Amino acid sequence: MEEPLIQLRHIYKIYEMGSEEVRASDDVSLTINRGEFVAIVGKSGSGKSTLMNIIGALDVPTDGEYLLGGEDTSEMSDDQLAHIRNKMIGFIFQQYNLLPKLNLLENVELPLLYAGVPAQERRERALESLKRVGLEEKWKNLPAQLSGGQQQRVSIARALAGEPSLILADEPTGALDSRTSREVLDFLKELNKEGNTIVIITHDSSIALEAKRVVRIHDGKINFDGDVNEYAAIL
Ligand SMILES: Nc1ncnc2c1ncn2[C@@H]1O[C@H](COP(=O)(O)OP(=O)(O)OP(=O)(O)O)[C@@H](O)[C@H]1O
Ligand SMILES: [Mg+2]
Repeated sequence: MEEPLIQLRHIYKIYEMGSEEVRASDDVSLTINRGEFVAIVGKSGSGKSTLMNIIGALDVPTDGEYLLGGEDTSEMSDDQLAHIRNKMIGFIFQQYNLLPKLNLLENVELPLLYAGVPAQERRERALESLKRVGLEEKWKNLPAQLSGGQQQRVSIARALAGEPSLILADEPTGALDSRTSREVLDFLKELNKEGNTIVIITHDSSIALEAKRVVRIHDGKINFDGDVNEYAAIL
């Protein structure tokens, strides 16, 4: 059964720059169902991060409606947005965003801490999550003691720890070499096979080809939305 997880309806994000107006999102309508693996692609400045911030409930649109898991976010307060973000979304960023003074386990525990999960359960779930990315033995290490690929795996573990409805990744392989990128992409594919919904933002069309569906943005508008095979055919 197809159940919508993300519903964007006529989303606009408009920045006023003096007398100029920048339409970073310009009437974007998009539905993503549970279980999908979608790549959002586009050139630099096309509006990808803008859209990622809206989908991630990190920013609100100038106009339009955004439903996440059926809940209308436009009426939500900042606190409510923070809550739904914490509960529903696991973020993966290009620069990992791990806290340098916390060990791996503490880093992975962080979103669970914010979500109010009790200490014992937090620890167990974080360890379980580190295990899934094959780094449980290094739980005491600091992020700086790991390679880039390992750090990105920790950030994936952190994203997974809260059992989010959506994994949202912005250029997740942007800082990695090709072999390590491959590993991270294979892992994301694996997570999708297990039923996780994944949205990845990238400027790299070869990475977009790893997804099942591709949405391309140009000047704040969607100018392609289709199956990955269709996308491959127009490259
Ligand atoms: N805070 C802001 N104030 C004014 N303009 C902005 C702001 N944030 C983004 N923009 C503009 O909105 C447009 C879309 O920016 P966005 O960051 O979404 O692009 P992007 O596709 O993520 O690019 P990149 O691949 O370089 O990260 C750009 O023209 C950008 O200059
Ligand atoms: Mg960007």
